[in-house]
Amino acid sequence: MTPLLELDKVSIHFPTRAGLLQPRLMLRAVDKVSLTVMRGETLAIVGESGSGKSTLGYSVAGLRPPTTGGIRLTPARAHPAGRDPVQIIFQDPFSALDPRMTVEDIVSEPLRLTEVGRKLRRDRVAEVLEQVGMPADAANRYPHQFSGGQRQRLAIARALIGDPELIVADEPLSALDVSIQSKVLNLLADIREKHGISYFFISHDFGVVRHLADRVAVLYLGRIMEVGPADDIFTSPSHPYTQALFEAVPRIGRGRRKRGSVLKGEIPSPIRPPSGCVFHPRCPKATAICSTDRPELLPAPGRPEQLSACHHKE
Ligand SMILES: Nc1ncnc2c1ncn2[C@@H]1O[C@H](COP(=O)(O)OP(=O)(O)O)[C@@H](O)[C@H]1O
Ligand SMILES: [Mg+2]
Repeated sequence: MTPLLELDKVSIHFPTRAGLLQPRLMLRAVDKVSLTVMRGETLAIVGESGSGKSTLGYSVAGLRPPTTGGIRLTPARAHPAGRDPVQIIFQDPFSALDPRMTVEDIVSEPLRLTEVGRKLRRDRVAEVLEQVGMPADAANRYPHQFSGGQRQRLAIARALIGDPELIVADEPLSALDVSIQSKVLNLLADIREKHGISYFFISHDFGVVRHLADRVAVLYLGRIMEVGPADDIFTSPSHPYTQALFEAVPRIGRGRRKRGSVLKGEIPSPIRPPSGCVFHPRCPKATAICSTDRPELLPAPGRPEQLSACHHKE
């Protein structure tokens, strides 16, 4: 199997200031992340808000170059010049679609830079609208005429129209009504079956991740805490951070929810991240080494495919 996407020590830093007269500091939103996504595979990225998931997703989608490190895409087939084999679906379907553009113009936007005749373009828009379960006459209407779930279908149609190999989906269900979430989730799963698409799927909903992901990467303060096959991570999480995340969700937690979950409080600032293992101030297993040495991402005991960045991994 050939990797479709390879991230090699990707870091994404933002220059910031604590105040007007303060020196410039670096906010390390993503810090030396290495990951691969195989062809046809769905990699889920999980972690608390502020852990760098969206920032990483934008870089994968080509919207923001990494500060350092490499992102390599190896498509399985040729793509016409000007057509990006990576597309993105955003969290909020209300702000993601330009209210002044017709659905046809919005959905066909990824074809903009390629030579496509008007008739062909129209046919292709009708085709993808059908694929996402929208009526053909939606093409001449405007985004405000549709519900949140329908708008997210339009965003999916736009992502599909250029025949991509990878779709970055940044919490694509979280702005939708619960009643609609499973329908859109099923649509994303169908699309993957039919088109052999890979997903870089950002989510904090473990039910959704469990349903869709082949592999899971757990991000905290811009770093990968744990990555591996979804089944292994859900049945035997190795990293205390992953364990704490699961404990915070009673229905998939191992056993009953523990009182006094370790994930109290906010995640520390990525401007001055904790030394050593960034999770150590909140970690129930932390010892002296955790505040001094950054743990490497290495296989969990007896599980060669499940990597965990912890001095006390299980
Ligand atoms: N454009 C930006 N400028 C400065 N800081 C940013 C920018 N975008 C994100 N950040 C910061 O980077 C960190 C990661 O943010 P984000 O990628 O949105 O996390 P997540 O999607 O996991 O919630 C946060 O501390 C956030 O405040
Ligand atoms: Mg985000």
